[in-house]
Amino acid sequence: MHDTYKKFMEKTILVTGGAGYIGSHTVLELLQHNYRVVVIDKSCRYQINNPRAVYFQCDIAHSQALKAICARYPIDAVIHCAAYIQVGESITNPAGYYDNNVVKTAQFLETMRTLSIARMVFSSSAAVYGYPQTLPITEQHPCAPVNPYGQTKRIVEQMLHDYHGAYGLEYIALRYFNAAGGYPEYQLGERHQPETHLIPLVLQAALENRPCTIFGSNYPTPDGTCVRDYVHVRDIARAHRLALEYFDQPTGLKAEIFNLGTARGFSVLEIIQAVEALLQKKLSLHYAPARTGDPAYLIADATHAARRLGWQPMHSDIMTIVSSALQILVTQYQHNFDIVYQLQR
Ligand code: UFG
Repeated sequence: MHDTYKKFMEKTILVTGGAGYIGSHTVLELLQHNYRVVVIDKSCRYQINNPRAVYFQCDIAHSQALKAICARYPIDAVIHCAAYIQVGESITNPAGYYDNNVVKTAQFLETMRTLSIARMVFSSSAAVYGYPQTLPITEQHPCAPVNPYGQTKRIVEQMLHDYHGAYGLEYIALRYFNAAGGYPEYQLGERHQPETHLIPLVLQAALENRPCTIFGSNYPTPDGTCVRDYVHVRDIARAHRLALEYFDQPTGLKAEIFNLGTARGFSVLEIIQAVEALLQKKLSLHYAPARTGDPAYLIADATHAARRLGWQPMHSDIMTIVSSALQILVTQYQHNFDIVYQLQR
C-alpha cells in the first residue's frame, strides 16, 4: 500500500458529541472511510457497533479523563459537535448555554493545547448571522446573532480564530443551515428530546392524526410562512470528512469557515405539502404566533464549500430528506408499539 495512503487510512479522530444527531452520522461517515474514531459524549444515544470506534461517556471539560483517553488513543484531529442546540431554551437559560457551549469549549481547547492536538472541525450554525441583510447568505455576511445559542457559536468561532493566531491551531468551522433527515439503514436520525424541529414534528403530527403547528403566517415570503434551507444530515456528515481531508492539502495552515446549505429554500407550508405528498394524506393545520427571533428567510450560499472542499449536497432534495426522516420515525413507532404490545401480553 502506498505510504501516503496508508497514513491517511490510519488517522484517529476524536468526535465530541459523537453519540448525538449530527455527531453519529459523522462518526458513521468516518468509519465508512476507514478512519478510527474515539467518541466522547455525555450520553450514549446513538452508538455504532464497529471495532474502529470506541465510546466514552465523558464531559468535554473533564480534562483528566480526556488526557487518559488520548494517551491510549493518540488523536490526529478533533470534530467538536458537543453542544446544547435549542434556540428557545438558550433564551430562557443563557447561563446554561454559555457554560456548556463556551466555557466548557474553552476548557476543552486548553486540554487540546496541552495534548498538542492542533486541528479542529467545529459545528457552527447559520444562527451566527441573525436576521439576513442579503440572500443567499455568504460567509462574509455580518454576524449578529439574535439569541444566546447563536452567540455561543459565534464566540467559539472567535476563540478558534484567536487560537489560530496565537498558537497555530488549524480550524474549520462549518455553519450548518437546517440539518434534517436520517440514515434508516443504520437506524440513525433525528430524535431530540424534546423535539422542536419542523420536519420531525410535522411527521409526528401526521402519524398521530394531529394538526401541524405553523409558527407565524405573516412573514414577507410568498405564502407567509418562514423559508429555510434544509440540508441532509448525511451531506453535513460528509462535509466533516472533506474538512479533515482539506487540512492535509499543502496550502498552509487552515483557518476557514464554510456554509453548508443547498441555496434552495422551502417554506413551512411547502414542507407540510411534501409530507402530504409522501403520505398521500391531507394534514390539518394549526396557526400559532411567530416564534421570537425566527428570520423570514435563511438560505445559504455554499459555493465556498464547493470550491475549497469539493462539497456538494447529494441527498438534500426535499423528498429524500422527508422520506428518510419518515422511515426513522416509523421504525421508532414500531419499536414503541412492540414494547407496549409485549407489556400488554
Ligand atoms: N416551525 C413551525 N412549526 C413547528 C416547528 C417549526 O412552523 O412545529 C417553523 C419555525 O418557526 C421555523 C421553521 O419551521 O420557521 C424551521 O424551524 P426549526 O425549529 O426546524 O429550525 P430553525 O430554523 O428554527 O433552527 C435551525 C436549527 C438551529 C439553527 C437554525 C439556523 O435548529 O440550531 O436552524 O440555521 F440555529
